[in-house]
Amino acid sequence: MCGIVGYVGPRVATPLLIEGLKRLEYRGYDSAGVAVMNGAGVETVKESGKIARLEALLASAPIHGTTGIGHTRWATHGPPNQTNAHPHTSQDGTIAVVHNGIIENANVLKKMLEGRGYKFTTDTDTEVIAHLIQECFDGVLEDAVIEALWQVEGTYGIAVISSVDSHKIVAARKGSPLLVGLGEDEHFVASDVSAILAHTRQVVYLDDGEMAVVDRNGYRIIDLNATEISKKVAHIDWDLGQIERGGFAHFMLKEIFEQPQTVENTMRGRLLLDEATSKLGGLNLTDEELLSFNNIVITACGTSWHSALIGESLIEELARVPVEVEYASEFRYRNPIVDERTLCIVISQSGETADTLAAMREAKRRGARTLGIVNVVGSTIARESDGGIYIHAGPEIGVASTKAFTSQVVALLLFTLKLARLRDLSYLRGREVVDGMLALPGQIQQILDRAQEIENIAEEFKRASNFLYLGRGYNFPVALEGALKLKEISYIHAEGYPAAEMKHGPIALIDDLMPVVFVAPHDSVFDKITSNVHEVKARKGRVIAITSREEPALEGKIDYEFRIPETMDLLMPILASVPLQLLAYYVAVMRGANVDQPRNLAKSVTVE
Ligand code: AGP
Ligand code: GLU
Repeated sequence: MCGIVGYVGPRVATPLLIEGLKRLEYRGYDSAGVAVMNGAGVETVKESGKIARLEALLASAPIHGTTGIGHTRWATHGPPNQTNAHPHTSQDGTIAVVHNGIIENANVLKKMLEGRGYKFTTDTDTEVIAHLIQECFDGVLEDAVIEALWQVEGTYGIAVISSVDSHKIVAARKGSPLLVGLGEDEHFVASDVSAILAHTRQVVYLDDGEMAVVDRNGYRIIDLNATEISKKVAHIDWDLGQIERGGFAHFMLKEIFEQPQTVENTMRGRLLLDEATSKLGGLNLTDEELLSFNNIVITACGTSWHSALIGESLIEELARVPVEVEYASEFRYRNPIVDERTLCIVISQSGETADTLAAMREAKRRGARTLGIVNVVGSTIARESDGGIYIHAGPEIGVASTKAFTSQVVALLLFTLKLARLRDLSYLRGREVVDGMLALPGQIQQILDRAQEIENIAEEFKRASNFLYLGRGYNFPVALEGALKLKEISYIHAEGYPAAEMKHGPIALIDDLMPVVFVAPHDSVFDKITSNVHEVKARKGRVIAITSREEPALEGKIDYEFRIPETMDLLMPILASVPLQLLAYYVAVMRGANVDQPRNLAKSVTVE
């Protein structure tokens, strides 16, 4: 999920690799390393933390060589320490590999390789690739990589060098971006064009299933049958400043637009279609244990707390187990009913939020089993929980959480499916959920393709000083999240409410200046929400509605409408939250706010 850069040519490689890694720094990462052919063999230097630390190590012991690869890691398997940092080397030290992505059958391959005498020294899934290539090596690096990749399941962008077949880099892509940069007498590989843009603007993008064999004088693109593929050379006309956020004006926007992929990454390899259930390797609970809990408590803060509310409805509807959602900050001070028969689910993007961590420790102290739904691998909550589900959304840099939210809901869906199918959810209904989930990435993309419509709505409302967000059922937490996004980054006061509660108080606020965002897709509570729309309109409120089809009942009652694709009620929050993220984003940008680093907020709140 993080960064790759490689160089082969006449120049000393390490400064170029370090420069490339620094350009990838914006993506967020936890450790970094390089491997360079030093004349005698492959020499690897790696370090946890900032690139500057790696740079210092290299300054004290420079490597002289002109072919090398570098990596910034965003850990998915094993903590972000020096050992687990990439590149990883084969047992005989002749091969070095950097990898972005996740090898799903790493355990099976590891057992096989251990049976053949290979010793593993890291916790990563990547190490299997290095040993596997050694196992397949017969003098030609690309042949060995091809043979190894036929055995690998999962996603990868990799770059490989070998001291036996030296002076070349072999790179391959499946699900994780990779490109070749073309220079004069020199070539690059990179996961992101920003890493090499200072040196060339001529690039060849690899597609899934393609490999590049790159040396100083040229490159070949082949597939996994070694058949040559002819590819177009693309000319990049972005400037460096733009590209650092992948061409997006802000990280937040980039992260919103990443959601088709991140939602897919959360599901990847975890849905069992034939059984209409999910497979979650990290729960550390047997099916019997999973069935033995009397109740579930979900605790979290902020956006993660909103996904918890959706989780509550999901679990209660499909699995029929009582669920309580608690603000982590309140949990400890309330003498909650939690014991050995309680499962406590803890949700946190960062895995470091102090209130959430404290709540988890308290639940543990009372005997509950704890499960973390976490994005950052190796974070404290991930380490201290009894088991968990990584959401694999990749680094989230924008302070306002977007892609982590949708992935958290997907993780809760996966968990619910598993539990519900062990209880009494039918195959058919389970299958309906699975099919609905599989359609989500494409549906999110359809919404994003029409971002301009939301931008136009934002233009109309950018001067508002209050906003009300209303939703019912599954979309009540979406209303809360929409309001939180807006207030966090635009500093406009916004409140989320269950739509029917409005008449018990907030209705007093409605006048012709008050924008009211209704999350009103065509679901089982649509008729109810229609009356709430009428109530607002009767008081001259300005209605923005998120709908999913043409609704005669709303005719003449809404001022602005944004249509989202239809799906099951319980999947709707994932789609409905995307336009609200965009609305908050565009309003904030139009007001000149610092979207990625809003005032007073921190990405991870590690104080109570
Ligand atoms: C989200 O936009 C916020 N910045 C904030 O509410 C956040 O969700 C909360 O602090 C919890 O963080 P966590 O998920 O990393 O634990
Ligand atoms: N899965 C690999 C690891 O945990 C690669 C992570 C990445 O994409 O940075 O080391």
